[in-house]
This record gives sequence, C-alpha cells and structure tokens, in this order.
Amino acid sequence: MGRVARRRVLLSGDPVASLGDYVAASGGEGVRIAAGLGPAGVLDEVELSGLRGRGGAGFPTGVKWRAIAAGGEAEGERFVVANGAEGEPGTFKDRFLIRHNPYQLVEGLLIAARTVGASRAFIALKRSFAAEAESITRAVAEIDAAGWAPEVSIELVAGPDEYLFGEEKGLLEVIEGDDPLPRLFPPYIYGLFASSPQMGWSAGRSLGEGMPAASNPTLVNNVETLSAIPAIVREGGEWFRTLGTAESPGTIVCTVSGDSLRHGVDEFEMGTPLSEVLVEVGGGVAAGRAVKYVLSGVANPVLTGDRIETPVSYEGMEAAGSGLGSAGFIVFDDRTDPTELALAVSRFLWVESCGQCPPCKLGCEQVTATLESLLVGEGTVDDLVVLKARLATVTDAARCYLPTQEQRVVASLLPAIADPSHRGTLRNLAVTKLVDLVDGRFVSDERQRFKLADWTYGDPATVNPLRLPPQRDTSTGTIAALRTAGFVEDFGIEDGAIAWHSAGDHAAAPERFVVAGSYRFEGISDPDYEEIVLALRNRDSGDNGVLVLAFGPYSTAGEAAVLNRLPRATPGPAGAPDA
Ligand SMILES: Cc1cc2nc3c(=O)[nH]c(=O)nc-3n(C[C@H](O)[C@H](O)[C@H](O)COP(=O)(O)O)c2cc1C
Ligand code: SF4
Repeated sequence: MGRVARRRVLLSGDPVASLGDYVAASGGEGVRIAAGLGPAGVLDEVELSGLRGRGGAGFPTGVKWRAIAAGGEAEGERFVVANGAEGEPGTFKDRFLIRHNPYQLVEGLLIAARTVGASRAFIALKRSFAAEAESITRAVAEIDAAGWAPEVSIELVAGPDEYLFGEEKGLLEVIEGDDPLPRLFPPYIYGLFASSPQMGWSAGRSLGEGMPAASNPTLVNNVETLSAIPAIVREGGEWFRTLGTAESPGTIVCTVSGDSLRHGVDEFEMGTPLSEVLVEVGGGVAAGRAVKYVLSGVANPVLTGDRIETPVSYEGMEAAGSGLGSAGFIVFDDRTDPTELALAVSRFLWVESCGQCPPCKLGCEQVTATLESLLVGEGTVDDLVVLKARLATVTDAARCYLPTQEQRVVASLLPAIADPSHRGTLRNLAVTKLVDLVDGRFVSDERQRFKLADWTYGDPATVNPLRLPPQRDTSTGTIAALRTAGFVEDFGIEDGAIAWHSAGDHAAAPERFVVAGSYRFEGISDPDYEEIVLALRNRDSGDNGVLVLAFGPYSTAGEAAVLNRLPRATPGPAGAPDA
C-alpha cells in the first residue's frame, strides 16, 4: 500500500509509562527550549509551523495564541484550557493520545501557558474518562515534582457526557461550575471567570461586587493540538512544515470506525489518501461490500464512496465537498440507506442541542421528525421541501456551530434521499460517541439511542428511539383558524385554497395554494413556543412553498410571527430538492 513508511510524531514509540521514559525520549526539551526562546520566540515557531487546531475547525494555532497573548493588563488574567471532552461521534484520538503519552500533552500545556502569560491551566475531560484522568493526574504530579514550570498550576476538570461540553463556550461554563450551555462570546473575548463585557446572559458577571472589569482572554486548544507543541518547539516550526502539505502541515491522528473490518486510531502525514487510512487502520470493508459513505464526525457533508482517494488534509477534504473535522472517519458500506443515516445524525444533533436558540432545537427536531416520516414510508415529496426550507433556518440566531452541522450533513444527503436508486437496507443505525476501544472494536454509547431531547434518558423498554410523538395534522383547517383569528393578514381563504397576495399587492390576482401537509411543534425548553409549518402547493403552477408560523416569545400576545415564507418555483418534478 503506497506510503507505508509514515512518520509518527505524537504516537511514536511505545506507550510512555513514566516521566523517566518520557525524558529518555527527549521529553522536557520543549519546555527547556521554550524558556530560552521566550514567549515571542515560541509564538514565532508555532506560527511558522502552520499547525492548525485539531479540535475540528482547523484554526491556525499560532494566530490564536498571538491573539490571546496580545493586549494589556487591563484585560485581566489569561487562562489556558486543554479540550479533552472528545464527544464527536467517530472520534477517539484524544483519549488514545492521552493513553499513549499524557506527558507531551502536559508539556504542551505548560509551554502554551507560559507563552500567553497564564498561571492557571485546565485539562477538561469527561467524568467518564477514568483511565485518562488517572494518567493525566500522574503525569501532572511527576512533572510538578520535577519543577518544569512551577509558576503554572494545572487543574483537572471532570465534565458531563453531553456533546456540548466539547464546544468551547460550553466548556468554559462547565469549568465555572455550570451546565454546558454555550455562552455568548468566544473564549478569546470573554474568558474564564470574566467580568466584562456586560452584554446579556452569561456574557458577563455582576460587576457590583468589587470585581474589576476583566475579560480574561482564554486559550482553548484541543488535546492533539497541544500534544504537537513539544515536538514543534524542540524540532522547530520549519521541521513541522516538512511533514504534510503546504496548507495542512504536520501529521494528523485519525480514528476509523463503522463498517470497516477493524476499528482503531493511528497517525498519518497530512495529505495521505483517505483510502490508505481506511485500509491501514480499518482493514477495508467486508468482502463483497463497498464503501458507500464516509462521515468525518457529524460536522461535515458526507463523502461518497467514489471519493475515498481524497487526501486527508483540510484543503483536500474541502475540495471534495466535505471537511476534515477531527479526522474521525465513520465508514458506511453499500447497505446504508441515506435517509436512515441522515436521521441518525439529525437525531443526535437534535437531542444534543441545548435549546437556547429555538430555531436550532425546534428546527433539528422538525428535520428529525420529517426524516423519520420519510423513513417509515409516511413521507411525501412535500416533506423534502419542508426539510430543505427548515435546514435553511436552523442556524438562525445560533450561539454555536451545532445547527450548521445539521445543515451541512443532512443537506449533503438530500439528493440521495430524493433518489430511490440510492435506497439501502434499514440497519437500526445510531450515531453515538465512542466509549472505549476493546480488541480492535470501538464500544459505542448505546444509551444515546434512548437519550431524550431534555438530556434525560428514557426507559429502553418503553422508548422507541425511532418514533417521535405524532405531530402531523394534515387538515387545511389550521390556516382557516389562523385567518379567523386575524393572525395572518396577507392570507385569505378563497374557494378552498389559501390566497396569498405576494408582496402585499392586493390589486394583483392572488396566488392560490393548497396545504399539502402541516406540522405543529411545541417548544421543548419553552412550552410557550409553538410553530406551525405548512407545506404549500400552488394550485395553478404546482410550485411548492413553505410557510412557517411561530408563536411565543418572539411574537406579541395573540399575534403570529411569520418567520419564513418561501413560495417559489421548483424545477423538475414537484417537490424534488434542488440541492
Ligand atoms: C458541538 C461542538 C462540539 C465540539 N466538541 C469538541 C470536542 O469534544 N473536543 C474538541 O477539542 N473540540 C470540540 N469542539 C471544537 C471546540 O469548540 C474548539 O473549536 C476547539 O476546542 C479549539 O481547539 P483547537 O483550536 O485546538 O482545534 C466542538 C465544537 C462544537 C460546535
Ligand atoms: S445553536 Fe443550538 S446547540 Fe448551540 S447554543 Fe444554540 S440551541 Fe444550543
């Protein structure tokens, strides 16, 4: 297989069991050299290396560090956080790295803290990561005793199992003792224990208690990102660039799971063909089967099986219409049904959405419900129109990236969902985080199947994970009732159809729509919020449209807010998505 002579940097050698072993393999050189270079010299090396954050977004690490380090004392303290929440479905590389070598993570964290001027650093892990917490505790104690950076204290934080614990704004909330509900501003603007700026919920603490205004810019980096730092400082930024590609320097630690013969984690140079990663780590798929889809976590459009020669790099995966994410590749073979796959992803994101932003929680719920209708054969072509329109608004007023993930993954599967030739076999697919790696297979978090939208768990005996409560109401009475109540001004009921004067031009002949389907959604986190979504069909032209009516916090009492009116021409067969 091609380029087997690959370079392992972070996973080189045997697992490191003691500080003595680590020092014997050049451990500690990074901290020593960094002290000589000083913060400015380290920033130069990290920037020169071109290292990009391995937590998913690929943001340039040097740029982030420089932004945190910049600014005067008026901004308050600096903090550094290692993000080891690792909740992305299909990703296990951070835990694997900690199991292999916790010392390089601690060393990278100390270098980061000194470079940005932080005296407190945190390593955030899920409470359930007991073995990793033990390794880190031991490594921190040994490095402390060796006096590598006595002015920096490291605290271990044990967080909840929720997906949003890994989102950096949710992570900071947890470190401060709250639930993982993403706060308003990013950590570099509003860091840990900040007391300014004062702009709304969880954007600022009370200033009336003698606290000086301080935004405390906080550096949050993924475990893998920080683990790469000691080698970069030791060998130099230029050396790092000799690995990988110009836009994606270095190596990347990849996880392979799903329908591959084996599961596992290994390190590859950026730019290695995905097919090579899938074969070397996963052993390919079973004889007679083919790869139909690969998901890189649940943040990027699906990659179809005909694109597995794509280079594993930020630019390579983007050019193929997907994204690298945190290189957690989930393989789906040719049995996979695109609707079932989209439903599994959407259900995960809907359940894990925290509900602070109604278009996200309710939108993901509706997408999930609609996919479910399609999967169980109760759907119509109008459902595809509803799906597409809803995906367009799930990100409205979003505090975090989760609904964009919903949009990207589900939209990428819509063409296959609309095409009967892509159908597969239903396999009870679920998207979950990985819990452990045992004998070359990942154990997945089966409890996720029964996790409910309020983050409690249903009883497996009574909860059918596929079925949502019945929500369909196909009567045209809804719009009539709204009209009677005077809620919808531009609409009228004429001759059994909804007459809509587009652009409010009452002199022109109205367009006439019939209601092809209607859906009602109640708020989960806010019981006062309600939406009615109508799938409309133009009686004359056959064009499809969607009308979303929202009631609740956004509308004045007794008045509907029309969020989205999208009657529009649809090319091709009525209802076929044009994505
Ligand atoms: C819903 C969601 C979940 C995330 N989960 C993780 C995670 O488990 N681990 C992680 O390192 N980053 C996660 N991230 C990305 C972090 O918000 C953040 O970008 C990252 O920790 C920054 O580190 P980096 O620059 O080293 O990549 C998540 C982001 C989102 C939107
Ligand atoms: S976008 Fe969704 S997951 Fe993110 S904060 Fe808002 S409701 Fe929560």
